[in-house]
Amino acid sequence: MRILTGLQPSGKLHVGNYFGAIKPAIDAQGEGDGYYFIADYHAMTTTHVPAELRENVRNVAIDFLACGFDPSRGVFFKQSSVPEVNELAWVLSTVCPMGLLERCHSYKDKIAKGISANHALFAYPALMAADILLYDSNVVPVGEDQKQHLEVTRDLVGKINDQYGEGTLVMPKARIRDDVAKVPGLDGEKMSKSYNNTLPIFGDEKPNKKLIMRIKTDSAAVEDSKPTENSVILALYQLFASEGDYQQMVSDYENGGCGYGDFKKRLAEAYWDYFAPMRVRREELVANPDEVDAVLKAGAEKAREEASKVLDRVRRAVGLV
Ligand code: ADP
Ligand code: TRP
Repeated sequence: MRILTGLQPSGKLHVGNYFGAIKPAIDAQGEGDGYYFIADYHAMTTTHVPAELRENVRNVAIDFLACGFDPSRGVFFKQSSVPEVNELAWVLSTVCPMGLLERCHSYKDKIAKGISANHALFAYPALMAADILLYDSNVVPVGEDQKQHLEVTRDLVGKINDQYGEGTLVMPKARIRDDVAKVPGLDGEKMSKSYNNTLPIFGDEKPNKKLIMRIKTDSAAVEDSKPTENSVILALYQLFASEGDYQQMVSDYENGGCGYGDFKKRLAEAYWDYFAPMRVRREELVANPDEVDAVLKAGAEKAREEASKVLDRVRRAVGLV
């Protein structure tokens, strides 16, 4: 079974990215043949500053390794190291109805936010489909927000296989983890860098913990019982704490006697401890840039070898050779 996922290199990783994308990808290692790539072509739909793109790609590579990706058990590479993906995207575009792309939420949301619509932003799902299909991927772990892109991908496989024969492309499946499908941000909305409500994975202790201390709460007194429903503190604490500690906090909410300041302190500690080993590993990688380069280079070679087999099959099927 081949598992594949793409990581968007878009600035500092936050807790939502970690539980929604990074951790599921790393957990899936060993379940099958894991392919992971940094979606640098995709990032170009919104970043046109070369130094920024380079730095973001570098950071996501370091972060992914620091979070526990084991290069001896999977393939990790930059999307642009396999430029053949653009050829497959083109083939897919030729069977992709405009309406399919016009309906995509992520495109519509970006337009609604005032980002000007370039062709790449519109065609993004076709490139994403190519990312997946170029490696005959079976399972694609993604966040809830990517579900529609996986549906587009499956639609395109159907069209290609109808037109050019069963088996031209392999039908992939999305894997969306329900328990962490949507990590709430510090304001209770979905955690997202575009909402300015994120808790970063890495960074300095004081300012990061301060973000937690600033979470808005109601005015219940210390002795009052507090609502557990829709509590951002509880939702985040569940991600970091043991089941026992989490249940303790739930009963402290229900029974009264503890204030929100106390709950926030517990959350801040659990959060900081959770990422401690990753912070240590990150420091090591920052000090050893060659190690990161070597992993990406080996990954690119392996990925390119696999891609050429699939592309060869597609080229024959469509009549290019
Ligand atoms: P952002 O919303 O901060 O811009 P991205 O769109 O770059 O984040 O998302 C990168 C990955 O992280 C995607 O796979 C997305 O599904 C996942 N992700 C982002 N925010 C969350 C969240 N709050 N909960 C779960 N997964 C998330
Ligand atoms: N669009 C994904 C995101 O925003 C990143 C991505 C690009 C991806 N290509 C992919 C994810 C292929 C899974 C498979 O997070």
